[in-house]
Amino acid sequence: MKILFVGCGSIGKKHIRNLSKFKGIKILACRVRGKDRKFEKKYQVKVYKNLKAALREKPNAVFVTNPTSMHVQIALKAAKAGAHLFIEKPISHKLSGIKNLENIVKKKRLKVFVGYNMRFLWGLRKLREIIKSGKIGKVLYINAVAGQYLPDWRPNQDYRKSYSAKKKMGGGVILDLSHEIDYVRWLVGEAKEVFARTDKISNLQIDTEDVADISLKFKNGTIGNIHLDYLQRTPQRYCEIFGTKGSAFWDLYYRCVCFFDSARNRWYSYTAPQNDMEKTYEEEMKHFLNVLRGKEKSSITLEDGKKVLEIVLAAKKGRIVKLK
Ligand SMILES: NC(=O)c1ccc[n+]([C@@H]2O[C@H](COP(=O)([O-])OP(=O)(O)OC[C@H]3O[C@@H](n4cnc5c(N)ncnc54)[C@H](OP(=O)(O)O)[C@@H]3O)[C@@H](O)[C@H]2O)c1
Repeated sequence: MKILFVGCGSIGKKHIRNLSKFKGIKILACRVRGKDRKFEKKYQVKVYKNLKAALREKPNAVFVTNPTSMHVQIALKAAKAGAHLFIEKPISHKLSGIKNLENIVKKKRLKVFVGYNMRFLWGLRKLREIIKSGKIGKVLYINAVAGQYLPDWRPNQDYRKSYSAKKKMGGGVILDLSHEIDYVRWLVGEAKEVFARTDKISNLQIDTEDVADISLKFKNGTIGNIHLDYLQRTPQRYCEIFGTKGSAFWDLYYRCVCFFDSARNRWYSYTAPQNDMEKTYEEEMKHFLNVLRGKEKSSITLEDGKKVLEIVLAAKKGRIVKLK
């Protein structure tokens, strides 16, 4: 099997490292910086400067791992060439081109997976299992929080030069941390109304919002809130839920999931495995290869990616937006 990467930055390299653990896969890369012998040797990858030439190799799948604003243009070219797609989250910073991509994917029967890897977290899977078991009853409220000081995200890189800092490259905390929007949908279902307060309140040198509080009303009546920021010096990532019969809580950094069962009047708690986040990248790679081999259906589709993007764009409007 041949797999082409477009964009070998931090996430592209991580996926290449994970993919190289599997046998029988030839990895190609298309890089803006072109030939790079050190990179080729280190990662055992053949590098192309030109996408046309790389696509002539007829890769079975293309990993779209360049800055967010470039995802759709690359995905369109790859899909036209008949390659299945792994598109990093978020699928784009705007809706244009996505209908066209959907049409090509449908016509050519291509498989698409969107890299919302947090759905593979043990902790969030446990939280979902608790909800689905009915032990906390009907979910009435969900609150998801993710925040970290942007300069600490990639300590070896100047944050001002990252796509995160630039609106035109698809930066901003809502797109960057759209994982929370994706997993909240996955836990409680589709949203029908969105309203958000977004702002730039720090002195970070970025031209995007650095904080967002998104309020959601779901089709099933649940009320939700998502807080995202580039500001907190001590990173936070957690989700709390209450339902008609109990409550549940997950925290990434404390590695815990707990829930209160009102019928038994007791708390239950579980510890997530170490490196839960790192393992998600291995799990999603296994899943994507199984999707390519026809053993599993893609669990995070282009439709999922589009629904998340619609919420992101609605949140940026600063007024109540009703979703279809
Ligand atoms: N799922 C996750 O957990 C996760 C984590 C991080 C990032 N992401 C997503 O993955 C995408 C890439 O993020 P990243 O952190 O890997 O970014 P990054 O480290 O900045 O890498 C992006 C790469 O894209 C290529 N590129 C092409 N044109 C470019 C341009 N004009 N400016 C800068 N780079 C350009 C470069 O690779 P070449 O030199 O090889 O061309 C660059 O290294 C984003 O959409 C992001 O949201 C997802």
